Amino acid sequence: MANLVRFFALTASVAVSSATTIAEINGPKFLSPFKEQTVSNVPGIITAKGPDGLWIRSTRPDRDERTSESLYVFGHTFGANLTVGDSIVVGGKVLEYRSNKDYIYLTELSAPVLESIVSSGNNVKALIIGKDTRDPPKEQYSSLDGGDVFAVPNNVSQISTANPALQPQKYGLDFWESLSGELVTVKNPTALTKPSQYGDTWVVGNWKVSGRNDRDGLTMTDKDANPEAIIIGTPLDGSKNPTNTRMGDSVEEITGIVSYAFGFYRILPTTAIKVTKSQKPAVPKTTNIKSKGKCDGITFGAYNVENLAATSAHHPALANHIVNFLNSPDVMFIQEVQDDNGVANDAVVSANLTLTALTAAIAAAGGPNYTFTDIVPVDDQDGGAPGGNIRVAYLYKPSLIRLYKPNPGGPLDANEVLKGPTLKYNPGRIDPANEAWTASRKPLVAQWEVIGKKGAEKSDTFFTVNVHFGSKGGSSSLHGDARPPVNGGVEDRLEQARLTANFVKNILSEDRNARVITAGDFNEFTFVEPLSQYAKISGLKDLDAVVRIDKLERYTYLFDMNAQQLDHMFVSETLAKRSKAEYEHVHVNTWTEYAAQVSDHDPSVARLDVCA
Ligand SMILES: *[C@@H]1O[C@H](CO)[C@@H](O)[C@H](O)[C@H]1NC(C)=O
Ligand SMILES: *[C@@H]1O[C@H](CO)[C@@H](O)[C@H](O)[C@H]1NC(C)=O
Ligand SMILES: *[C@@H]1O[C@H](CO)[C@@H](O)[C@H](O)[C@H]1NC(C)=O
Ligand SMILES: *[C@@H]1O[C@H](CO)[C@@H](O)[C@H](O)[C@H]1NC(C)=O
Repeated sequence: MANLVRFFALTASVAVSSATTIAEINGPKFLSPFKEQTVSNVPGIITAKGPDGLWIRSTRPDRDERTSESLYVFGHTFGANLTVGDSIVVGGKVLEYRSNKDYIYLTELSAPVLESIVSSGNNVKALIIGKDTRDPPKEQYSSLDGGDVFAVPNNVSQISTANPALQPQKYGLDFWESLSGELVTVKNPTALTKPSQYGDTWVVGNWKVSGRNDRDGLTMTDKDANPEAIIIGTPLDGSKNPTNTRMGDSVEEITGIVSYAFGFYRILPTTAIKVTKSQKPAVPKTTNIKSKGKCDGITFGAYNVENLAATSAHHPALANHIVNFLNSPDVMFIQEVQDDNGVANDAVVSANLTLTALTAAIAAAGGPNYTFTDIVPVDDQDGGAPGGNIRVAYLYKPSLIRLYKPNPGGPLDANEVLKGPTLKYNPGRIDPANEAWTASRKPLVAQWEVIGKKGAEKSDTFFTVNVHFGSKGGSSSLHGDARPPVNGGVEDRLEQARLTANFVKNILSEDRNARVITAGDFNEFTFVEPLSQYAKISGLKDLDAVVRIDKLERYTYLFDMNAQQLDHMFVSETLAKRSKAEYEHVHVNTWTEYAAQVSDHDPSVARLDVCA
């Protein structure tokens, strides 16, 4: 009665449109045509209740698949005396809500007024995704992406201003928007990546997917960034999702409400999800790639060791990976090595203690006695965790490999390719003063020779470039307002790629048969502009493509819904042409639960014939 009184008080003061359906409120686009308007006489059956409101499903659906038939009714106390199955008539103000300007708006009915309870105990059935609905689209996110969610330039338009008509059969965001507020069931869910610290877990159900890798995660490929995946968010009943879920875990059937929060469409499950089965074996097998101990079979490992300081607890675990999973490669390209006192923000920049601790841990794990080389950066100039002074470094087996005529450069010395080719500084950094490297790691170039071959001439040398390009920090989400989404730092990486590629090009123009290996954390995918330019300018070949690793098994990192590849090796034509090249990504970290991962990246290992 009190509510009815409020209702009549409202009608007296505000122009109220009458008898509005939920489909009309949602409309066929992202934004409601009733935005900021007061509506009344909206009929619906309560399908679920949450801590701050409830969801209703229309009793007067239309036949337009674009218009969601469900709606979020926002109000802390509104549902106190109502239960799931109640058929009600409500009014209120239609709002488009987002907690951050980079998100997509969620349509909701706010300041709700209960106009009447029509009946109770109505049967509420969830829509089964892929059965009662169409399958989610598998490749594209939004009509505003121009066919490529990673196209440059980014953020050419925004969903909130363009407000495109939904095409749920073609675009993932449109599909999930067309189900906004709906109670749905996901049959036979599979977890795709590790959950967030809150237990938010990406899944796909038993619908058709693209990109499924051997571990049952989804790998991102060119123009297919897996919009068919959805996050399972915070359970409506206050229970907590597990935080130890792994890629490929089978999960019990999930029922919940389609919503949007924290930058993503999501399903809010009625209760916490439950893992029923995990993939076996829990850890990958040791790589089959083994050094031959001579120039026709030198092994190269690459590993982003995630903020490794001298006293880091993960030295032994990293050593275990390098020795027992990578077979102790002859040369290791290491990224993210911090200075000797880690993130203590003082004048210390040397990483001798950090690298000594790592090589000691490797020896203690039964591995070789590696020697290391790096160039100490200028304090606080290379980005990463403040005070950490991260840099790239090489480990190598001094009994087999040595620097060719060593002549280390300083942090500000720009390396040059001299006749031969040889290097002005060995090792040396690429154009360290160039502004493209502001707050970023400078690549470390070195020229090496294999020991043991008669009269190691310069024709027996090979070149390496160890990179750690700028991060993707500042990216907007694949489910965000900006289209194509902002790929944080992409302009910096493009310039970094050009500088590095041109340096390699200089080596190859001295000797087109030079043996050049560039590896590390490029923080980018091969099909995105910085790396397509990198390959084009340098003439180097993507080793994944050279050895024909299945596109779906090319991943070293998990982010949001995707298994993806940030870490690459590119080799010169002369190395690519030799039939014996081998390469593998060893999924020691992507396969484990979050608490057990040693680094956020998987290491990789290759074997190459570097004989002249
Ligand atoms: C719910 O019902 C109780 C008891 O009948 C009543 O005191 C209360 O005001 C009602 N609350 C709402 C929000 O209508
Ligand atoms: C995208 O561009 C719009 C319009 O210029 C701007 O308001 C918005 O902040 C940008 N988004 C991101 C994530 O940079
Ligand atoms: C680190 O090791 C190098 C090579 O042995 C040496 O030249 C340098 O002085 C060391 N730096 C510090 C700070 O100990
Ligand atoms: C590494 O060096 C130590 C000390 O010099 C030596 O005892 C050990 O045998 C060496 N290990 C290998 C694998 O060469």
